[in-house]
Amino acid sequence: MAMQLATKGAIRACVSSFSSGFFTRHSHALAGDAQKIVGVFYKANEYASKNPNFLGCVENSLGIREWLESQGHQYIVTDDKEGPNSELEKHIPDLHVLISTPFHPAYMTAERIKKAKNLKLLLTAGIGSDHIDLQAAAAAGLTVAEVTGSNVVSVAEDELMRILILMRNFVPGHQQVINGEWNVAGIAYRAYDLEGKTIGTMGAGRIGRLLLQRLKPFGCNLLYHDRLQMEPELEKEIGAKHMENLNEMLTKCDVVVINTPLTEKTRGMFNKEMIAKMKRGVLIVNNARAAIMERQAVVEAMESGHIGGYSGDVWDPQPAHKDHPWRYMPNQAMTPHISGTTIDAQIRYAAGTKDMLDKYFKGVDFPVENYIVKDGELASQYK
Ligand SMILES: NC(=O)c1ccc[n+]([C@@H]2O[C@H](COP(=O)([O-])OP(=O)(O)OC[C@H]3O[C@@H](n4cnc5c(N)ncnc54)[C@H](O)[C@@H]3O)[C@@H](O)[C@H]2O)c1
Repeated sequence: MAMQLATKGAIRACVSSFSSGFFTRHSHALAGDAQKIVGVFYKANEYASKNPNFLGCVENSLGIREWLESQGHQYIVTDDKEGPNSELEKHIPDLHVLISTPFHPAYMTAERIKKAKNLKLLLTAGIGSDHIDLQAAAAAGLTVAEVTGSNVVSVAEDELMRILILMRNFVPGHQQVINGEWNVAGIAYRAYDLEGKTIGTMGAGRIGRLLLQRLKPFGCNLLYHDRLQMEPELEKEIGAKHMENLNEMLTKCDVVVINTPLTEKTRGMFNKEMIAKMKRGVLIVNNARAAIMERQAVVEAMESGHIGGYSGDVWDPQPAHKDHPWRYMPNQAMTPHISGTTIDAQIRYAAGTKDMLDKYFKGVDFPVENYIVKDGELASQYK
């Protein structure tokens, strides 16, 4: 009930945030107009045929090729997205719709948006549209939408796993096994129980709340900082305390999890100064966006031991370069961007993308919570 109330409130907030009437391009396809749709996904190569539900790769293209082509639309799919000679760049001048995923993001800079004279709609198959210059998209009257909620369970489960992996010092233990070693002490001197520890999430929207709910049975002290406080009933059910002041929350936490989008307010927020406010040895899990952290500040704090462990799946840019310093930090448990692209998540974000395309062709609005930019306006948390 409380969750329903919170959702209704969020929807009302979104409706009011899109009430102004700025408009320069049609936000729907004109009836019967054949559209050029470009999809940018990661390539799966030999893995593409290993699972019929592996929809999020170039080879399986969200499973919508037949459906699109049967309606006379053109569907071009590629993983080649960087630079002036890339496949994506070739199609920028005349594409109508761009679909991309945060796992292999098509970076839509202001320059690319300017060149894309026919572009109307940018869809994110997943959650997080910061690979798009949202201000430029809004100024050009484009619509940006994502499949809100599609992979939130996938990410919350993954964050719980990362918290445990760091708390138990799992990765070096696993490494020992592969290397033919046996050294219990080398692991045990910095392995702890989760019970009794203070865990704080910056951001308690869809993912943050699911994480807090999953942490509750572990007997931790749960805190959250968010620009919006939960309904008291929901807060009580989840068992987490709202911390209005982020700095105050950070000084208390044994584990900090980042669950806000990357916006102009959160970009580079975790810099040297902010990290210094945290407890020495704090563990950080960040599956939100890498650019919320200042890259070098994280490296230095890991080297000094101020951050005791860092785990996440997000990098800036993606794919991460071979020499990205986060690959070589001590005590890290990083992976490529995988948490939100489980097979279950792919089925959901493929269906959500198809649904929005169908609505776009029919001139029907999307679910209001999916919009990131509509009618020249950014969703409220991106402002
Ligand atoms: N790694 C992955 O595979 C993956 C998958 C999905 C989402 N994500 C990332 O996680 C983010 C969160 O996803 P979600 O579905 O929970 O989004 P959400 O919109 O439901 O929740 C975001 C929360 O952050 C809060 N917030 C925003 N800006 C804030 C600020 N400056 N200070 C305090 N609170 C702020 C909002 O009030 C909201 O409650 C996404 O934007 C995306 O970047 C990553």
